[in-house]
Order: sequence, then C-alpha cells, then structure tokens
Amino acid sequence: MSNKFYITTPIYYPSAKPHMGHAYSSIAADVIARFKKIQGYNVFFLTGTDEHGLKIQKAAEKEKKDPKIFCDEISKNFIDLTNILDLSNNDFIRTTEERHKATAIELWKLLDKNEQIYLSKYAGWYSISDEAYYSEDEIDEIDGKKFSKSSGSSVEWMEEESFFFKLSEWQKPLLNFYEKNPDFIMPESRKNEVVNFVTSGLKDLSISRTTFKWGIPVPNNSKHIMYVWLDALTNYISATNFFENKNKFWPADLHIIGKDILRFHAIYWPAFLMAAKLPLPKQVFGHGWILSGEEKMSKSKGNILDPIELVNDYGSDELRYYLMKEVIFGLDGTINLDNFRNTINDLANNIGNLSNRIFTILDKNYDCKIPEISSGYTINENLLINLKDFINLINKYEIHNYLKKIHTYSSMLNKYVNDNEPWNKKINSEQNIKNILYSTIIGLKNIFILLYPITPKSSISFLKNLSINREDIALDLINKEFVPNQKLSKPNILFKKY
Ligand code: MSP
Repeated sequence: MSNKFYITTPIYYPSAKPHMGHAYSSIAADVIARFKKIQGYNVFFLTGTDEHGLKIQKAAEKEKKDPKIFCDEISKNFIDLTNILDLSNNDFIRTTEERHKATAIELWKLLDKNEQIYLSKYAGWYSISDEAYYSEDEIDEIDGKKFSKSSGSSVEWMEEESFFFKLSEWQKPLLNFYEKNPDFIMPESRKNEVVNFVTSGLKDLSISRTTFKWGIPVPNNSKHIMYVWLDALTNYISATNFFENKNKFWPADLHIIGKDILRFHAIYWPAFLMAAKLPLPKQVFGHGWILSGEEKMSKSKGNILDPIELVNDYGSDELRYYLMKEVIFGLDGTINLDNFRNTINDLANNIGNLSNRIFTILDKNYDCKIPEISSGYTINENLLINLKDFINLINKYEIHNYLKKIHTYSSMLNKYVNDNEPWNKKINSEQNIKNILYSTIIGLKNIFILLYPITPKSSISFLKNLSINREDIALDLINKEFVPNQKLSKPNILFKKY
C-alpha cells in the first residue's frame, strides 16, 4: 500500500498506574501520527498493554486474583489513558487476546522451521522487574544483594531448561543492516550504543521459561512459556493480522520507545524477524527520560507528576504542548509544575490572546465575516508559511523545534498586528483594516493547523469557527485564501492562564 504510515508506542506493563513516562511515549507517537494524517498519509497508530510474564503474575498473586481477571481490570487504566491524553490510536492491542497469541505462536513456529531455536539449559541473574537475564559483569552487589547495573533493579539466580534463539548468528547481518539503513535507529547517539553493543558480540538468547505459567505456551512443549519480550514484540505484527491476510500495514514505519528498551527493539526484534524471514520495521526512535530534578521520574523514587491529575487540572492539550515543547525529543528532560504553568501561560499570551483580539474586532465591526479585501489582495507575503521546513522538522523528529518554529511564526503574526493596528482608523483606511484582518485570519488558521498534532482539541475547536471540520484538517489548507464574506464564529477562550 503506498502512502501508508504505521506507527506504534511500546505496549505498557499495566501492573503499575500510568505515569508520565507512559504518557510521554504515547503523546509523542500521537503527535507524529496526527501530523502524518494531516499530511495525507493513511495512518495506522497502535498502542496497547503487555500482560504476560512473571511481573504481572506476581502482581496478580499479591492481590489474590486470577491473572487474566487481574489484567482485564488493570489494562482498563491504559485504555482510559488513550482518552485522557486524546490519542488517535486506531487499535489497542492486549497480549492476552487470542489474535495476539495466535501470531506469537505463528512466529515461534517460523523460527523453529528455520532452525533458529534449540533446547538447552539456562543459568543466570534474572530481574523480574525488567523481565531480563543479566550476565555476571552486568551485576552490582550492594549489602549482599545483587542488582542490575543498567536498570538498578534487583536480580535473583535462576536455573532452568530453556529454548534458545540463535541470536549469535545474527551479529553480522544486524551490523550490515544498520550500515545499509543508517536511519534505522534514531537519534544518532543511540545508534552508536547499539552498534557498539552488537559489535562486542551477541550470545544466544533464552526465549522460554519453565518456572512460571503466565504466558503463551511454546507450541508442542507447554511446559515452556514464551519469553515475555518475544511475546511482547510480536504485538506489532499481531495487530495487523499479518499472518491471516498479509495486512497492508506491516512493516511498521516507526516504533516510538524509551531509550531503556532500545536493545529489545533494535537488536532482538530485527534479529527475530530476519530469522523468520519477515520484513523489518523501518525505524526505531528511542526517546529520553522524563526526569524530576536529576532523577528518572518513577514511583519507587516518589518524584511523580501524575499525568492524569495534570490533565484533570489543566487539560490534555496543555500537557501535550508542555511535554513536546520543553523536552527535547531524544534527550532526557526535567519537568516541574512552575515551568509547566509558565509554558502554557505563554501559549495563552502568544496565540490564545491574538485569536481573541482579532475575533473581537471581527465580531464587533464585521458581523464575524471574512472581510471584503481589495481586488488582487492576497495574504501578506511575510506571513506565508514555508511548509517544507515544518515537514523536514517532523521527518527528523525534532518536535521541540517544530513547536519553536510555530511560536516564532505566531510572534511574528502578533508583531504584524501590533505594527499595523487594525483597530486604528486614524492610521488605516477602512480597506486597509479589512486587508490586515484578512491576512491575520489566514495566519491564525496556519497556526492552528500546524498546532493540530500537538493540541488537537484547541485546533479542532478553533478551526470549526472557520468552517473547517475535524476530518478536513490538512496541511494543504495552509496559506490558502478564504472566500470573502464567509461567515465565521467567535471561538471560546482557547487557552486559559494560570
Ligand atoms: N512492556 C514493556 C514494553 C514492551 S514493547 C514491545 C515496557 N513497559 S513499561 O510500561 O515499563 O514502559 C513503557 C515505556 O515507558 C518505555 O518506553 C519506557 O521508556 C517509558 N518510560 C518509563 N518511565 C519513563 C520516564 N520516566 N520517562 C520517559 N519514559 C519512560 O517497558
């Protein structure tokens, strides 16, 4: 299918309440999905929950619940989150669904058929919280307890019979693949980490467990449960029904993930797919962490800004705008409430106020219609948007710079209005005033179309007043002229100040 764009978020462990890290991954993916949509792509945007594994089994046991019933309850928090954050996802996959289990089994069978799997024994340090084994040199010992150096989570010694995937055979093909596809891992700095890791050698990967039951049984050997990461990564193809009818969306165009799960997406996942002779995703973007002070925001550290509370108090557009503007996409970023309020006040001052001022004049003096412009007049050329610049920024995933550029444009539009004073009949002819207002309305329209991926609610609400319906919002409308006399309606206050 030409012109398709398939984008995913990580699927979340539903055992914890949704936090800012989850919100961040999802919002970033939604911004790109919405941008591609208004650019004219046929977008498929997937999110979901990762419901198998020891971590979930233990959480269910703690609450004395059957794991499936437990998952049905808790995954609801993440389904709700898609509405709270105003995500435009086309599907929500749960790894406990039949469609997913069937796909994971199919992938296993393909790997087996291609002689990529063998049975052996595994012994190593296992972190339940990361659902990952670590080797001796990846472990620290503090007060007699062992921890993973990379994640800080505690590990315990485990020994079990296990199926192995011949990951070691894929070192060279992976390195070749990275070389031929220099944009596969983004941003660049993360790519170097991965290439160094693969260059230093890959061991075969244990891909089954016998010590717990909560997962997808290995075909023809149900004593074994599939390794939760093999199970989880498969979600990206199960949601497309790939094996049933070769759905047109796979391969994914972009997996958005946090940097902590890059190894799984940029090494294991392409290796599994190559080994199964399936098409590979086109890109993986590993974003940074949301920090509070110097630390990763996490429940155990008690330094949480709760995304759901922020949306309740300020609105989803406000949270989306803040995270996308203040955190450089790809790097770690610190957030706090004061900075949050300053950022959204600035949005209200810079963009909300301008819309309010212009519509007050239109409403009062022009019956809220597009003013009649002088013949041959078109939008003031300084206010023309160069769309290519904006598209380039999104193609490079520089969402923060994209927003900066909108801000610069809107400051210029404010200056244009302040310099030309469309309320001042002493310095302007009646016709001049109409022309200035006309240009400014087009400028405002441009801003709200460009803002749509980030602040969809406000953009939809503003553009509706210009008779542009939600489904008609498109980058193509940028800079486009209006029919004079077209009736508009005055927008409500779009952004509140705090
Ligand atoms: N279930 C796995 C993903 C499987 S994808 C096939 C998982 N889940 S998670 O719920 O622990 O984390 C999901 C995402 O949230 C990850 O991308 C992770 O990077 C992100 N974040 C968790 N805490 C974060 C921050 N404090 N800041 C930004 N994102 C971080 O991993």
